[in-house]
Amino acid sequence: LRVTSRRLAFATKTQAISTMTNTEENVGNLKKQLAKLFEVSLRETVPTEPDIEPLVAACTAKFGDYQCNNAMSLWAKIKGKNTEFKGPPAVGQAIMKNLPLSEMIENCSVAGPGFVNVVLSKTWLAEKIQKMLIDGIDTWAPKLAVKRAVVDFSSPNIAKEMHVGHLRSTIIGDTLARMLEYSKVDVLRRNHVGDWGTQFGMLIEFLFEKFPNFEDVNESAIGDLQAFYKASKQRFDADSEFKERAQRAVVRLQGGDPKYRQAWMQICDISRKEFDKVYQRLGVQLEEKGESFYNPHIPGIIEALSNRGLVEESEGARVIFIEGFNIPLIVVKSDGGYNYASTDLTALWYRLNEEKAEWIIYVTDVGQQQHFDMVFKAAKRAGWLPTDDSTFPKASHVGFGLVLGDDGKRFRTRATEVVRLVDLLDEAKTRSKAALVERGKADEWTEEELERTAEAIGYGAVKYADLKNNRLTNYTFNYDQMLSDKGNTAVYLLYAHARICSIIRKSGKDIEELKKTGKLILSHPDERALGLHLLQFAETVEEACTNLLPNVLCEYLYNLSEYFTKFYSNCQVVGSAEETSRLLLCEATAVVMRKCFFLLGIVPVYKI
Ligand code: ARG
Repeated sequence: LRVTSRRLAFATKTQAISTMTNTEENVGNLKKQLAKLFEVSLRETVPTEPDIEPLVAACTAKFGDYQCNNAMSLWAKIKGKNTEFKGPPAVGQAIMKNLPLSEMIENCSVAGPGFVNVVLSKTWLAEKIQKMLIDGIDTWAPKLAVKRAVVDFSSPNIAKEMHVGHLRSTIIGDTLARMLEYSKVDVLRRNHVGDWGTQFGMLIEFLFEKFPNFEDVNESAIGDLQAFYKASKQRFDADSEFKERAQRAVVRLQGGDPKYRQAWMQICDISRKEFDKVYQRLGVQLEEKGESFYNPHIPGIIEALSNRGLVEESEGARVIFIEGFNIPLIVVKSDGGYNYASTDLTALWYRLNEEKAEWIIYVTDVGQQQHFDMVFKAAKRAGWLPTDDSTFPKASHVGFGLVLGDDGKRFRTRATEVVRLVDLLDEAKTRSKAALVERGKADEWTEEELERTAEAIGYGAVKYADLKNNRLTNYTFNYDQMLSDKGNTAVYLLYAHARICSIIRKSGKDIEELKKTGKLILSHPDERALGLHLLQFAETVEEACTNLLPNVLCEYLYNLSEYFTKFYSNCQVVGSAEETSRLLLCEATAVVMRKCFFLLGIVPVYKI
């Protein structure tokens, strides 16, 4: 049974349906648009099961572009009951027959145990792409069920080193924030800086000793805070008199003693400037609300949790017991002080109730998984969050693995030193600049162009090498690999984009004019394959964003460049009869690539 007969048979029903299915709702999302059609068909096919969710997936099978897999599970539900169907293939046939007429579908067939395969209309695909070129790619943005989200990322610790783990958090968190923002979610980008705690006692005491007039000392004199931090820690461990003084300093600082408070602010300021340098280079926006911000709210929150009967005494500390964990979550230490968990519980409460965020996302290494599991479970026990994770408001931990060096151990520069982020970015830039010079670009370009391109490629390479892996796996940091212009690297992709731009430039045609006057047609199979992939952008971003997996978008981008290469090697663009249409396809590819780069925090380059 093919389209023609189906069309005739159901032509009248279709009108009613076209008003039901709001196609404007998911403009770029093929999967959702098809799901809407299948929803109608499923209801028609088995009216006794009105709540069946359509299972639609893109497929690689030679049968079609998408597949609906409902027949088998539907059969399992209805068999034995009073049904006209003889088995899953018959259910599949009926699902196909009842599918409303739609311009997007060219052809359908039922295969195997009842899969309904859909071939999309290439005319429809071409129109959608051209429409995107005119209306802009923001019309393809996913629509999510949340209005406001907090992304808690980067979050280094004052005076301690900002290490590669913080780089991962910064890169991954920024991408997630960008994808959510693109989906029109109001994102609060939070830097939960470690700016509070007992370490400040020893550091301040140590600095007071070194610089008797600390308030007059400028930051260049203090210089490397990390070194002072290390030295103060050594002193703390070795000298009991110093230790006592440091502990008294904590009490004074937390009690609000102006001299100590002033010193603390000075220290935070120096660290902040260091962090900001990294953020600026990476093009990352963050708003700092450090641990200290939540500190005044902690007593009230502990009180509220106690009143709900959640807090118990255990070995002098106050704790919350959580099902499934053999250690409790300590919320007040035995010395009466608060800790990481008390701050995080309070911050979670604040984000839900004061900031009205519906989705709170934490990006840290997997080592903190248990901490967040416990905090989230405590929040559920407290009734702040629903127990069901499939509804909002919701808290999610986005964990990531380690960055390894070539030796397979944790990535470090020298034997014991952790890598300084700024050095790492410098190195990536230096290397990409050298590669450009080697290609003769120093003579072709201005110094400024050279610098900008080297940065885009160098920093883009660092980001992409991180994002392309599933975030939970460890990955090896390797400059040669990430800066190679072959394989799945940012360099390869940036070059591919620049080449497309140059094809369009060299054609001498005004692409803005072509968008309006020309017509995009997908006739060659490689054009069609590229066009279909372009239209799968929206559902890919949605998947990457809702599952918090940036690598899904990287994979899409890499495949896009592969589809383009195939098209470009088999279809002549400039000078061919199809030049206009093919230039439009080039432009659409460049637009989608640029949006991917943007969402991954990578700056595109236009010539190479
Ligand atoms: N400062 C912490 C660290 O460096 C990360 C903080 C993550 N965010 C949070 N809300 N706990 O490990």
